Order: sequence, then C-alpha cells, then structure tokens
Amino acid sequence: MSEARRPAEASVDPSATDSRHQSRSGNPVPEPRVASMFDSIAPVYDRMNTIMTAGLDGRWRRAAVRAARVSPGGSALDVACGTGKLTAALGAAVGPTGRVVGVDLSTAMLEEARRAFGELGQVEFVAGNALDLPFEANVFDAATIAFGLRNLASFEDGFREMARVVRPGGRVVCLELTTPRPKIAGRFYSAVFGRMAPSVGRVFGRREAYAYLPHSLDGFPNAEELAETMRQVGLANVTVRRLALGALALHSGEVR
Ligand SMILES: C[S@@+](CC[C@H](N)C(=O)[O-])C[C@H]1O[C@@H](n2cnc3c(N)ncnc32)[C@H](O)[C@@H]1O
Repeated sequence: MSEARRPAEASVDPSATDSRHQSRSGNPVPEPRVASMFDSIAPVYDRMNTIMTAGLDGRWRRAAVRAARVSPGGSALDVACGTGKLTAALGAAVGPTGRVVGVDLSTAMLEEARRAFGELGQVEFVAGNALDLPFEANVFDAATIAFGLRNLASFEDGFREMARVVRPGGRVVCLELTTPRPKIAGRFYSAVFGRMAPSVGRVFGRREAYAYLPHSLDGFPNAEELAETMRQVGLANVTVRRLALGALALHSGEVR
C-alpha cells in the first residue's frame, strides 16, 4: 500500500477533531531528570508494574512482539527497554540465532535488565538515548518502544530514529498509554495512575517519581495524532489497536 491507511478505530477518536484538544510534541521534563527518576525507581519498577497492571503487562508486551513480526534468526531493537521484559520477549521470538538489543537512558534500569536477562545470549543491553540511537541505519528487522515514548523530548524524533535503524519492510511498534479513554477505562486509569501510583510509590519510598507518571500523559497526543506522527516520519501502513479497555494503544508502521 503506497499511502498509509487510516485505521477505523483511530479515525473515530473524538479528540482528534476537538478544537480544545492541545497536544504536546514532546515531554517537557528535561532528560537528566527523567533518567534520574527512572534510576530511583529501577529496583521496584517490575513489582510496581505487576501491582498496577494486575499482571496484565505481560499480555500487552506479547501483543507488541507479534506486531513487530520478527522471526527466528531475526533482529530487533527495544528502545527505552527499562528492565528488559519486552527485550527478552523479543529475544524469545528471534531465538538463539537472532539478535535483540535493548537501549535505555537509565543505567539503573539497564542494571536490572542485565541482572534478569543477561544470560540470554541473543540479548544485549546498551546505554543510549532514543533520540540519538547509537546504531547504523537499516540494521534491525524491527524497533519497539513500550511505555517509553511519552518520556521523550520529541515524539516525532523518537519515531524518526526508530525508522532510521530499521531496514525497509521492517516494523516500528509503539505500545503506550493513550488518550482519550472510554469512560470505564478512564475511571480505571484515574484510580490506578492518578491515585494508586503515587500512594504505592510512597510505600516503596519513591513518591516523587511515581507522581510523575500520571502527569507524563497530560497533553500526550491521542491515538490518531500519534499515527499521523508516524506517517510524517515516512512510516507506511500505520495501524492502531486498542488494548486494556482502550487505555492502551499499540501502534505499528512499516519502514519504506
Ligand atoms: C516506563 S519505563 C518503560 C520500560 C519498559 N519498556 C517496559 O515496558 O517496562 C520508560 C523507560 O524509558 C526510558 N527513557 C526515558 N527517556 C529515554 C530516552 N530519551 N532514551 C532512552 N530511554 C529513555 C527510561 O529510563 C525508562 O527505563
């Protein structure tokens, strides 16, 4: 398909046409602060995730792996890999003859990733910035980013970098919280991220970092706007799939 398709789910997104809706093009929080917040929550990140998602995050990451369409012997880059769960799931998909690299800004998150998955021969974790990836062009079959995009100073540049390092025909995949949420998912989100995250974060002694999470979604582009950003960087056949009662969006596009 030469021109990107507008998926039906995304085109009915009401805030896409709402003139009051104003989206940010990137995260206003400076990178060093983002990195230090993730450094501070690294030791509790996986436990917090399991609590806040009721253990469903594994299912969502598996959907991201399927969207990346990698096969045994293939390769993938997992951007903003954090503690490496998606990186490892991609590693399982490419198998021992494949190669998967996880890249992240936070050294403490990378340490957790290496501790958990360092034994996997096909998986490697490296320090780097999503907006200036330390890789040549066209080297991976797919690039993924899960719950990382909303932290980047420029969403468009994040997608541009992912598209740059993926070979033509490969996939760029983004799993992220989304707006607006249908009523039920909206209430669930407000309860879990607006109130529960800072409280549970306090229990773990990381209140400030977990208070950042709900705010990182303020003004985040809705699913259709994000799809348009992917098209703008040249990705084709962009699709959007809603998960978790519409609270998450799984975007996928093809490198030309
Ligand atoms: C919410 S965590 C998501 C981690 C993991 N992908 C997951 O699914 O659990 C966001 C991650 O993005 C990383 N990050 C934020 N800004 C980044 C940047 N500019 N470049 C690379 N990583 C970044 C953080 O250090 C953190 O590990």
